[in-house]
Amino acid sequence: MIVTTKKLFEAAYGKYAIGAYNINNLEQTMGLFRGCLDSQAPFIIQISKGARAYTHKTMLEGLIRAADQVFPQAIFAVHLDHGDEETCYDCIASGFYSSVMIDASHEPFDENIAIVKRVVDAAHAKNIVVEAELGQLGGVEEHVKVDEANAKLTDPTQAKECVERTGVDSLACAIGTSHGAFKFSGSQGLHFEVLEDIQKRLPGFPLVMHGSSSVPQDEVERINAAGGNLKGAKGVDEEQFKGAALLGVTKVNIDTDGRLVWTRVHREHFRDHPENFDLRPVGKIFMAEYAKFIAHKNEKLGSAGQLEIVRKMM
Ligand code: G3H
Ligand code: 13P
Ligand code: ZN
Repeated sequence: MIVTTKKLFEAAYGKYAIGAYNINNLEQTMGLFRGCLDSQAPFIIQISKGARAYTHKTMLEGLIRAADQVFPQAIFAVHLDHGDEETCYDCIASGFYSSVMIDASHEPFDENIAIVKRVVDAAHAKNIVVEAELGQLGGVEEHVKVDEANAKLTDPTQAKECVERTGVDSLACAIGTSHGAFKFSGSQGLHFEVLEDIQKRLPGFPLVMHGSSSVPQDEVERINAAGGNLKGAKGVDEEQFKGAALLGVTKVNIDTDGRLVWTRVHREHFRDHPENFDLRPVGKIFMAEYAKFIAHKNEKLGSAGQLEIVRKMM
């Protein structure tokens, strides 16, 4: 059943976070649904602009509609990840997405607000919810001077102003994470004090943490041992998720870790079976491993075991 992220956030706020997982293909879709049902978790499917262009945007919609039929017990939102204004309008018009992210965080504050407001007005007219972003992810590292680092983090005063001026439904905050497999050069520098400050100014308002892959070191080692070259890859400690949830984070975005599962499975399989040229045996292993990975993440996020409680709230 497709629901809005708003409903999921109402259930989760202050207690746990919902996993938001990017998908691009059939095998990820199957693994995602299986993993979420195995762990009895509600979830968010994220589709990026790149994912829409990978095959065809209609292919992804078709996959998700089919998965909804194959797994009728699943409760999930369908969300556009890092949309520009044009893509947001396309997703709103499609009638398929229950949620869109407008990412105008690279624009000056007032321009970001103006863009978000236009998207919110168009989306709300169709009962679709909107996530915006304030601050900028990436490059916030331990060795960077505090002043420089803070310059990229979300300003809590602006966060409140953005929500009040736009009526947006959730806000992605920059607290020191970045996208991809190389997040920190030293120990991780997450700024929970920024979340705390935002939560004080916007009590009950759902916050989103991007760039939340944990880049498990055993996964990196296995990939490198099977011919990969991901030296120095490092991510967010997944033990931090529950603390973030208490501070109002209701959505945690994870993409890179799923790509690492794919890379490890395929590298090891073809290293160990050089005679193979069939895509199905390795595809089956990937779907099973992806499901295990998703169930594990849902445990760490606290969303595991929440499915029936959420169903009763719908
Ligand atoms: O934040 C970006 C997501 O990881 C999606 O990545 O744009 O390569 O699909 P992508
Ligand atoms: P990761 O690269 O840490 O998986 O972040 C994904 C993300 O934020 C998608 O929007
Ligand atoms: Zn992101």
